[in-house]
Amino acid sequence: MINLRSQREIEKIKIASLISAQALKLAGELCKEGNSSYYIDKEVEKFIFSKKARPNFLNYNGYPSSCCISVNDMVIHGIPSKDVVLKNGDLVSVDVGAEFEGYNGDNAYTFVVGEVGADVKDFLKTTEEALYCGIEKAVEGNRVYDISLAIEKKIKEKGYGIIREFVGHGVGASLHEAPEIPNYVSNEYEKGPRLKAGMVIAIEPMTTQKNEEITTCEDGWGIKTKFGELSAHFEHTILITESEPVILTKI
Ligand code: MF3
Ligand code: CO
Repeated sequence: MINLRSQREIEKIKIASLISAQALKLAGELCKEGNSSYYIDKEVEKFIFSKKARPNFLNYNGYPSSCCISVNDMVIHGIPSKDVVLKNGDLVSVDVGAEFEGYNGDNAYTFVVGEVGADVKDFLKTTEEALYCGIEKAVEGNRVYDISLAIEKKIKEKGYGIIREFVGHGVGASLHEAPEIPNYVSNEYEKGPRLKAGMVIAIEPMTTQKNEEITTCEDGWGIKTKFGELSAHFEHTILITESEPVILTKI
C-alpha cells in the first residue's frame, strides 16, 4: 500500500528531511584528506542527536552505524571504519537519514576529496543530473515508470552503468515503504503505480563508470563494483504535489 501523508505528517517529514540534509552537508564538509569515515560518521551522529532526532540507519536490520560511507568502488552501504582514511582524489558517497517524531528523511551525495579528472567530474555530474531528471517527473498523474525512464535515459546516453539490485523507495513513517523506484525501466516493474499528491518518495540513482556487476563485501553490507570501477550515488526525499515536486532534503 502506498501512503498518502496528512499535513501533520508532512510537517514532520519536512523536519526529518531538513535534519537529514544538514547532516549530509556536515558530512561533506568533513570529507577531507586524513579524516576517517568513522570520524565523519560519529560527528554526523552527534549532530543528528543534537537536533532531537535519531539516525534512522542505526540498527536498521542490524546496520551498525549512522551513515553509509562508500569510497570509490564501494557503491553503497559502506560501514564507516577507522581504517578508511580519505585521500586526495577519493569519491565519497555519504548516505544518511534522520527520524524525527516517528517520521523519516533520507538523502545521499557523492563528494570529492581534492581534485579529480574531467572524466570523473562528468560521471558525477551526469549521475546528479539523472536524479534531477527523475525529480522533474515526480508529479501527480505520472507513473513511477516516468521517473525511472528519465533517470535511465540520462545515464545511458553517456554509457555509464546503472545498479539494478537496489532502488529508490517510498519514505515516511518507515525508512523504506512502497513503492519501489527503480533507476531503469523493465518488464518486471511494468509502469509501476500512478503518483499522487501527498506521496513522499526517495529517488536515488546509483551508478558505475561502465559495468553494472556488483559484489557484496565480507561484512555482509558493503556493495562494491565487481571490476573496481568508481561509483556514484545521489538521493533526495521528494514530496509529490499537484504541481511542482518539492525537494524536502534541500537546505
Ligand atoms: N539509505 C539507504 C537507502 O537510501 C538505506 C540504508 S539501509 C542501512 O535506501 F541499513 F544501510 F542503513
Ligand atoms: Co534511500
